[in-house]
Amino acid sequence: MKLLTAPASPFGRKVKVVAIEKGVTEMMAFVAVATTPPTPNEQLSRDNPLAKIPTLVLDDGRSLYDSFVICDYLDTLHSGEKVIPAAGARRWEVLTVHALGSGMSEAAVLCRYESVLRPEALRWPDWLSGQMKKVVGGLDWLEANVAVIGNARAADADLGQIAVGCALGYLDFRFADLGWRATRPALAGWFMEFSERASMQRTMPTA
Ligand code: BEZ
Repeated sequence: MKLLTAPASPFGRKVKVVAIEKGVTEMMAFVAVATTPPTPNEQLSRDNPLAKIPTLVLDDGRSLYDSFVICDYLDTLHSGEKVIPAAGARRWEVLTVHALGSGMSEAAVLCRYESVLRPEALRWPDWLSGQMKKVVGGLDWLEANVAVIGNARAADADLGQIAVGCALGYLDFRFADLGWRATRPALAGWFMEFSERASMQRTMPTA
């Protein structure tokens, strides 16, 4: 199977981290695709009508998207601890932390598009600051609730932790000036430990 993604994408990184954590990378080829909303990649559009990365093309030609669906699928390919707990209170915590981390990534990517892709004359500062407020609100919640994310050095990372790790990694990559660590020491400590995982080291974002 083939993962279509981009080296800067926090959503593609989330899928790659899950694949590494769960030992399924040997079943996968990783294909870099350049696509943006105004210039969608043609091949990607054939595999996913939304023309969004990441998209996983299975060996029989069927496609899976979005990143959550792909991670859920990868979880069926191994017999270890699942990244998405099947049941119990922890399932709802993990899914909600995942939604928060992915929502922060989405808002940050929209800010990046707004600041870099959109022609200057069409930019809308209030929209940009509304998206950035989501990022900052997520950071503040995570700082106050770092215990909910769970042990960064646990043998088995879950999908909530991975989504938060990829969101923070994307902020460092594209929004280093935000300086989010300055007022969030607990989250900074958590991320420092989580970043030591081989899966995170091997998937650092690049342009
Ligand atoms: C970026 O260059 O920041 C980016 C590229 C692809 C997806 C998301 C973000």
